[in-house]
Amino acid sequence: MTPIYAQRHLLGTRSLTAPEITDLLDRADRYAAVNRSAEKKLAVLAGRTVVNLFYENSTRTRTSFELAAKRLGADVVNMQTGASSVAKGETLIDTAATLNAMHPDVLVVRHQDSGAVSLLSQKVNCAVVNAGDGKHEHPTQALLDALTIRRRKGRLAGLKVAICGDVLHSRVARSNIHLLAAMGAEVRLVAPRTLCIPGAESLGVSVFHDLRAGIADCDIVMMLRIQNERMSGGFIPSTREYFRFFGLDREKLAAAKPDALVMHPGPMNRGVEIDSDIADDVERSVIREQVEMGVAVRMAVLETLTLNLARGGDR
Ligand code: CP
Repeated sequence: MTPIYAQRHLLGTRSLTAPEITDLLDRADRYAAVNRSAEKKLAVLAGRTVVNLFYENSTRTRTSFELAAKRLGADVVNMQTGASSVAKGETLIDTAATLNAMHPDVLVVRHQDSGAVSLLSQKVNCAVVNAGDGKHEHPTQALLDALTIRRRKGRLAGLKVAICGDVLHSRVARSNIHLLAAMGAEVRLVAPRTLCIPGAESLGVSVFHDLRAGIADCDIVMMLRIQNERMSGGFIPSTREYFRFFGLDREKLAAAKPDALVMHPGPMNRGVEIDSDIADDVERSVIREQVEMGVAVRMAVLETLTLNLARGGDR
């Protein structure tokens, strides 16, 4: 079936439309069923090559892109930048041009700088997927979050979703804000003043600086990791104080709807933004299901982009 999303690259969720998102989620839903079956190997990407180029650490995203590509029958190369010529000073653009000369079909790129993946996409003629750039965007995370919610709640439109914690440094928050808004959800940001996006209201969200008030009557409570690697200090007084006011525990979760789901993109800082009691409660937490849906969503994205390459002819 021809994909509704017709672009060569997937760089963010800002420009995604509701029909494009729905088509990607429908495809991913079908792959989720394949992934739960005994026979997981398909030939959708047979003859295709996917290169994972990660300048930042990753467990979930890198592994799930590799699994997704392999389950679709592609050849996969994982570039360890620390063991490549990046360590000798080769630039991002030279590295991309070098890989591009080997004719991959898809480059999956994570980079610490916002905008780096978009810049790279202009220098290659394969498809590029943004696997997270600085604090800018992480589109496949937002898609897998949406799939997890849709499977549990049956819809996205009309749901109240609270995105809580270190919003300022979070590409997950930004990608989710755009995607959830496109799908008709009501998005709230809940963060200390020091960790909120300045002027966030212009993104169409409501802003709270108190966790209980922010999650009151919400269907989804999405917790975010405190991103110490993007802070130069002074954003929070101490992790102990942060947990007291912004860490999700059972007592604070009681403010949300009784059937509210708890999400976290991972990796988690247990005892900082989330209590283990909640993170491990299978009645409330869908954190492991998010990981599972990550493989299915990345299969849908790889399938869509390679179909678009075939439609696009020369590249
Ligand atoms: N959620 C997420 O991007 O996790 P990783 O950093 O492990 O890929």
